[in-house]
Amino acid sequence: MQELHRKRIKKALSLLKSAPTSQTLVISSNPAATRSRDTHFTYRQNSDLFYFTGSSHQSLTLVLRPHAKEQVVLVAPPEDPVKKVWEGSQPSTKTLARSLGASEVFSKDVHSAVRNLLRGTEVAFLQSISGTPSADLRKEFATRSPHSMRGLPASVVEAERLTSHLRCVKDPTEVQLIRKAADLTSAALLHAAQFIKPGMKERELAVMIEYLYRLHNAEPAFNTIVATGPSAATLHYHQLSRTLRKGELLLIDTGCELDMYACDVSRTIPVSSDTPAPLAAVYECVLRAQEAAIRAVKPGARMTEVHGVAARELTYGLKELGVLRGNPRELLKKGAYKPYFPHGIGHSLGIDVHDVGPGANDSLGVLEKGMVVTIEPGLYFSKSVGKIPACGVRIEDDVLVTPRGCEVLTAGVFPKRLDEINNIVE
Ligand code: GLY
Ligand code: MN
Repeated sequence: MQELHRKRIKKALSLLKSAPTSQTLVISSNPAATRSRDTHFTYRQNSDLFYFTGSSHQSLTLVLRPHAKEQVVLVAPPEDPVKKVWEGSQPSTKTLARSLGASEVFSKDVHSAVRNLLRGTEVAFLQSISGTPSADLRKEFATRSPHSMRGLPASVVEAERLTSHLRCVKDPTEVQLIRKAADLTSAALLHAAQFIKPGMKERELAVMIEYLYRLHNAEPAFNTIVATGPSAATLHYHQLSRTLRKGELLLIDTGCELDMYACDVSRTIPVSSDTPAPLAAVYECVLRAQEAAIRAVKPGARMTEVHGVAARELTYGLKELGVLRGNPRELLKKGAYKPYFPHGIGHSLGIDVHDVGPGANDSLGVLEKGMVVTIEPGLYFSKSVGKIPACGVRIEDDVLVTPRGCEVLTAGVFPKRLDEINNIVE
């Protein structure tokens, strides 16, 4: 892996160097987030720092300065003996520096040490996550008088502007890690699916899924959504308080984060095989929209275009279902589908579940070979419409853009055809 991190750093250095001005990138570990008083949330490394270093060190700052003699510098505080008693040691900065070909600076005052490394730089790429040395310097520079900034960067740019550019196209190692996360997500879904039956509680299923993630050293990449019947009309439903009922649909939106890479899939599953015809028709409509949208994913396509393909299918489907009336072309133009499909078609996926890269509403973002995006159309009815009861259907897969089209990385996660799902759930 160290070769991979060196390669990424080298790419960032050459991007920084390509400008006529001297530019420096500063990326820090995430601060430990407080849950209450002195109790912390589970630590999650900063995605950019992880991308460049692979390190889980909680107080590390990486400085990339192509114009300086020491181009790659790691800054960390000396080990805190009290913290060590409670939490154990942080990974060795010296070992990491050796493997990355970096210099290291140990200082009790990381903020000042990084500020010193920025002297002579015209442009600083600094983070926005508050509580990090990188972001704190950004705040400091914004409030200092021009006179006191002599020798320090005259302009500051969001670090994420540069790191997004590097991270949005995945290398083969990253794709492999997403596949691994998909395998575990699949195992968890298939395991939980055996228990789907009327009387089961949403929470029981969510816990079963997350149990398998944690058992295999993974975590949920986001709070697992298990939503049955009308609960599924809430996009990010989190109450998990309902009991599964015969003849209803169950929406599961889940994915693990394994080795810092996320998977994100949604499947909508009948609670019993006697799905009422109107619900089955809603399901088939969403599946057709998802299949059409996936076919539209290819290099050069925009996510807004892929969204448009799904919106078209859903509009025609809503008309067939009797939900919308009128000329489908006019309906599509007016966005009549929006109350029933109120979200984007998908998002980039990688180290972050909503990763850097072209989002659903990003008309400038063009898909490129190596990007990974989710394709997740849905239809939601918060109250019954005609014969359709309150319900939600979403079908989501993770899709790799290939040279000529795309590959569905989560194709084997869980079936999508109703008859195949019924065979598993029976
Ligand atoms: N899977 C949750 C989301 O994409 O928002
Ligand atoms: Mn998603």
